[in-house]
Amino acid sequence: MTSAPLPDIRIPDELLPADGRFGSGPSKVRPAQVDAVSAAATTLMGTSHRQAPVKNLVGRLRSGLGELFQLPDGYEVALGNGGTTAFWDAATFCLIDQKSQHLSFGEFSSKFAAAAAAAPHLGDPEVIESAPGTHPEAATRADVDLYALTHNETSTGVAMEVRRPEGASGLVAVDATSGAGGLRVDPTQFDAYYFAPQKSFASDGGLWLALLSPAAAERIERLAGSDRWVPAFLDLGIALDNSRKDQTYNTPALATIILMVDQVEWMLAGGGLEFAASRCDRSAEALYGWAEASDYATPFVAKPDERSHVVGTIDLAEGIDAITVSAVLRANGIVDTDSYRKLGRNQLRIAMFPAIEPDDVAALTRCIDHVVGQLR
Ligand SMILES: Cc1ncc(COP(=O)(O)O)c(C=O)c1O
Repeated sequence: MTSAPLPDIRIPDELLPADGRFGSGPSKVRPAQVDAVSAAATTLMGTSHRQAPVKNLVGRLRSGLGELFQLPDGYEVALGNGGTTAFWDAATFCLIDQKSQHLSFGEFSSKFAAAAAAAPHLGDPEVIESAPGTHPEAATRADVDLYALTHNETSTGVAMEVRRPEGASGLVAVDATSGAGGLRVDPTQFDAYYFAPQKSFASDGGLWLALLSPAAAERIERLAGSDRWVPAFLDLGIALDNSRKDQTYNTPALATIILMVDQVEWMLAGGGLEFAASRCDRSAEALYGWAEASDYATPFVAKPDERSHVVGTIDLAEGIDAITVSAVLRANGIVDTDSYRKLGRNQLRIAMFPAIEPDDVAALTRCIDHVVGQLR
């Protein structure tokens, strides 16, 4: 197969954003975070995660997240290796008792549902689906012991409010991989709010973090003491024990933790979650405002209050090839604006995580206009 040569379009320097990274994860890392890794080059880097200096760092991460999310008394921060994907498997062993309900509205939310459906020790989950670009609502059921929500579906750019289903007795577990740190959340509305560092926390992948309510910790401890077989790597009881000692069960990537601590402390210094979420609001206003005014770009998510403020999806009109637009942007140093591959739309997907400057999102829209003007 031969592909058409890329049109030779040069975006004028004065239009370019100061930083061209708009990927939805791994996402832009602030240079100061990399400086923090450099500053730890001969102190923390290359030292044992069982000794005080690294344990203190993990302690800063856990307490920083507690402060960022204003966790109520009794809530705790757990962490382990393997990223969100590992946490889903851990949750099928250690958070779901018998039956879960999943809101499935994109690639990521469907994966946890599939993991629960495949687990031989669990009953069949209830899966409530809705079309890409929308989200379904949870339905309270007496026999559901865990409701699986997704704060931000990264594959489609749909965000949903985190809210306990009315009158529900089951735990509420929220995949907040791309929502955490960029979207507002009320911790009383969840029992497990779990995420990975490569989105709003502007770090690398490979770790999972979970904010756990006392009810979630109680469930974990009860299942850990039951006769259910659990692989040690996926045992949230072991993870919780280690987290309480500011450690992980097995060796973590230290640079990832240093990058993340710097980002959490940057957010706290700016004013906390409100500061971070406000930056995302400003970026979202620039992106969706531009698309609504454009004669060739349209926000994919129809309902304005479901449009994510951390991952924006913008459809382009027929005749303007989004893959070409992304490729031209990349050739000009603006990277990772491609849509989620399996969604199969003529679309750009733009991350607006807190590290990304709102002015850079506005500059990006002018660059897209320039490229499309030339292509036309
Ligand atoms: C909403 C959501 N859930 C889960 C994942 C998977 O995370 P990880 O790659 O850390 O396993 C992602 C990754 O993009 C995501 O966006």
